[in-house]
Amino acid sequence: MERKNCYFISFILLIVVWLAGCDSYAEPSELPSVPSAAEQDHTLEEDVTVIRTLKIGLSMDTLVEERWEKDRDMFKEAVEALGAEVEVKAANGNDALQIAQAETLISQGVDLLVLVPHNAEAAATIVGKAQMAGIPVISYDRLVKNANIDLYISFDNEKVGELQAEAITALVPEGKYVYIGGASTDNNAHLLKEGVYNVLQPFIERGDITVVYDQWTEAWMPANAKQNMQAALIANDNDIDAVIAANDATAGGVIEALAEQGLAGKVPVAGQDAELAGLQHIVNGEQAMTVYKSIKSLTEQAAEIAVRMASGEVIETDTTINNGKKDVPTVFLTPVAVDKTNIEETIIADGFHRAEDIYHGLPNK
Ligand code: GAL
Repeated sequence: MERKNCYFISFILLIVVWLAGCDSYAEPSELPSVPSAAEQDHTLEEDVTVIRTLKIGLSMDTLVEERWEKDRDMFKEAVEALGAEVEVKAANGNDALQIAQAETLISQGVDLLVLVPHNAEAAATIVGKAQMAGIPVISYDRLVKNANIDLYISFDNEKVGELQAEAITALVPEGKYVYIGGASTDNNAHLLKEGVYNVLQPFIERGDITVVYDQWTEAWMPANAKQNMQAALIANDNDIDAVIAANDATAGGVIEALAEQGLAGKVPVAGQDAELAGLQHIVNGEQAMTVYKSIKSLTEQAAEIAVRMASGEVIETDTTINNGKKDVPTVFLTPVAVDKTNIEETIIADGFHRAEDIYHGLPNK
């Protein structure tokens, strides 16, 4: 067969094959549509669930008092045990620094902010910024006033004050009292004082008890509490029968001032927080009692609530407290009065402090 014919035939064949291919070539409308970027994302999202570690921001006023280090460490541990992470910042009692630190946490995109305010009013600014960023805020231990916080968790601070006054009035039902309050910027200091006067009021009305001196303690500083107690002793010629101090740190300042006048151990003193130094004052007779607050329970509950809220859950509570702006969903834990008769079954049993540290250098009871 002549070469020419071959070419012709193969050319025909080629045309035939090509035409066959054309037939299977789908019309543009029949071509599979190229998914848009959004569609591609959508399908991806549908297909791939992004497991992102939740991030909790913890903005603290201070780490000065012994308890706050426990709060920080135990909260972090509890949150990490729930698979989330914590970024901690402490402002050393400085409002402007706390606001700047909170702004950093907010700009880092934390999923939830846990806030221990230095100043109950000033911290409202932080809540406003978090809210603008759609970040829920938990007010931890101390209430932020006049702000749209999502939840408040703390011990019943009024109850703390009541426990202090009940213990001291049982020892000194009549006489001259001194009240050494906490920092007036801290809403807890106001709740504590309310609790103390809930119990003292009937004694005052009967004329059994007179509060001869009552002062807030600037920044909860023991040195300021000592100065206040020195002023109270001078103003009353050392004729004081009992002292209620808002926490163990301020009670320590009070005891120093009493000791200068040879009155330590003679004038019953109440405190709070079950600090090691406070417990040592109790076992050596210079302090009558303290109030124990299980930081472990507080941090575990706060961590669980924080992670659930950070995952978008709304937490219902049985209790609310009004902070001047709204009725805030609230979780209250119960404080426990501690004196030398029940240190074992409370503080030591919970592992809050070790017996050897409390009784250090003292004949075991
Ligand atoms: C309060 C807190 C107390 C006490 C104090 C000083 O708000 O409830 O436990 O330690 O702050 O930091």
